Amino acid sequence: MADTGNNDAFVAFERVQKSYDGETLVVKDLNLSMPKGEFLTMLGPSGSGKTTCLMMLAGFETATHGEIKLDGVSINNIPPHKRGIGMVFQNYALFPHMTIAENLSFPLEVRKIGKSDREAKVKRALEMVEMGDFGGRRPAQLSGGQQQRVALARALVFEPELVLMDEPLGALDKQLREKMQFEITHLAHELGITTVYVTHDQTEALTMSDRVAVFNDGKIQQLAPPDELYESPQNSFVAQFIGENNTLEGTVKEIKNGLALVQLDDGGLIDAKPVNVEKPGDRTLISIRPERVEFNRERLSPDAHTLKAEVVEFIYMGDIFRTRLRVAGTDEFIIKTRNAPDQRRLQPGEQIEIGWLPDDCRALDAT
Ligand SMILES: Nc1ncnc2c1ncn2[C@@H]1O[C@H](COP(=O)(O)OP(=O)(O)O)[C@@H](O)[C@H]1O
Ligand SMILES: [Mg+2]
Repeated sequence: MADTGNNDAFVAFERVQKSYDGETLVVKDLNLSMPKGEFLTMLGPSGSGKTTCLMMLAGFETATHGEIKLDGVSINNIPPHKRGIGMVFQNYALFPHMTIAENLSFPLEVRKIGKSDREAKVKRALEMVEMGDFGGRRPAQLSGGQQQRVALARALVFEPELVLMDEPLGALDKQLREKMQFEITHLAHELGITTVYVTHDQTEALTMSDRVAVFNDGKIQQLAPPDELYESPQNSFVAQFIGENNTLEGTVKEIKNGLALVQLDDGGLIDAKPVNVEKPGDRTLISIRPERVEFNRERLSPDAHTLKAEVVEFIYMGDIFRTRLRVAGTDEFIIKTRNAPDQRRLQPGEQIEIGWLPDDCRALDAT
């Protein structure tokens, strides 16, 4: 899952631990390596240690154990302003008493860049985020979205090789957030910037990133490209945190030919792909995506195990149908079907049989 010891890594965390109080570890033995130019997102619930990792990388917090390397060199003892890292936070943090142009010029002055060079760089950075006409205004005279664009320009103006962003779009409304998501990834890839992005929003993580590190409890639970994370979650936490997911509890009856036969707690038998179960008797949470459930018997293999289900609710959503079922002791089992001309609309009260391809159903840990 986590990788170590990669000499080509541009950013590397090696066995990093962090404790604020000398007792509890909020980051636990973290290993992570990123190649140059990658857009990596740290995704996880509040308190899982994402910001702490970003702060250690930026140099505002020190690691309790382990090493953080930039381009192969340990940066544990290098102060923040010498790390050449650009940063963007949720609350823009522009200097209110300075104009937009002065805000952008500031990181260049700190780096002792001459006046004419500064002016050219500021102009270019503002144009990049389509704020070229706003250099003379003060932050209070801009909308939230405009301020966030300026914050982005300020992080990029000194042409850092690495940019860190901590929930930079959290304060924006949905439409603007989606536009900015696109702009940020586009800009990062175009400029070849290596980016570490932090969010608790899984859609944002999936749509923006080359790879996503899913955090929980100070650990990376899985580090993978978005499609792999969604389609092949390695444990129950990831399966439930990413996307919509149905879970059923049961016990492994047998594992044969790469297939687990699972006895659900209400007696039903189903097939699943054994992911982190090992032997008969293991408790498991099986996990199946709503769009992978099949209720048309003809589309399943003849020897597939199926479950009896009762339709509880049918919701028409335009592009898809969302149907809630009572299955194996839960009435929160969701199936999603595409609104195609030949698609059947299930009726509440209907008794059906559901099944799936064993590959689409994962037998995970019973946490
Ligand atoms: N400066 C701090 N002092 C003490 N504890 C902190 C500090 N910053 C964060 N924590 C604690 O560390 C844990 C991880 O926090 P954080 O890295 O901010 O998580 P996230 O960004 O994933 O929400 C939390 O339990 C939080 O309360
Ligand atoms: Mg945070």
